[in-house]
Amino acid sequence: MVHVLFVCLGNICRSPMAEAMFRDLVKREGLDRKISIDSAGTGDWHVGHPPHLGTRQLLDQRGISYEGMQARQLSVDDFENFDYIIGMDASNINNIQSIEPKQSKARVIRLLDLASDQLVKDVPDPYYTGNFDEVAELVASGCQALLELIKMEHSL
Ligand code: 4NP
Repeated sequence: MVHVLFVCLGNICRSPMAEAMFRDLVKREGLDRKISIDSAGTGDWHVGHPPHLGTRQLLDQRGISYEGMQARQLSVDDFENFDYIIGMDASNINNIQSIEPKQSKARVIRLLDLASDQLVKDVPDPYYTGNFDEVAELVASGCQALLELIKMEHSL
């Protein structure tokens, strides 16, 4: 089993969208028994909350489930439990690395560094921009690239 964790700041807008969209993609590819998916935030303000209304509306429009999803905070244990820890922007990557244990073997990657077709490398935060559609396009392209990487690295 390959374990993937998406991380943003609040775990209510971007990383839950990535979690739900990647889970949908992985299921459509028939790899849901090979790849497990979760998300977390580096901040603790929204722990226990469902995804933001903007993320829920966007996922509803696309028929993608977010059932049972609740925000949680990134912890040091995540570096043991996940193979890929995927940040949404450079600030998330700094925050993730600030608590990364020395012996961690998890790969910490900024999502859009994987998407060679995207010029934008940080997924903008829709909590401030209000633009959830823009986020969905970037996340979809990053998720596609991430799946290709995992398939290649794990011979799936
Ligand atoms: P996210 O967006 O990191 O994409 O979930 C945010 C959500 C909440 C806050 C910041 C960003 N906040 O400051 O509460």
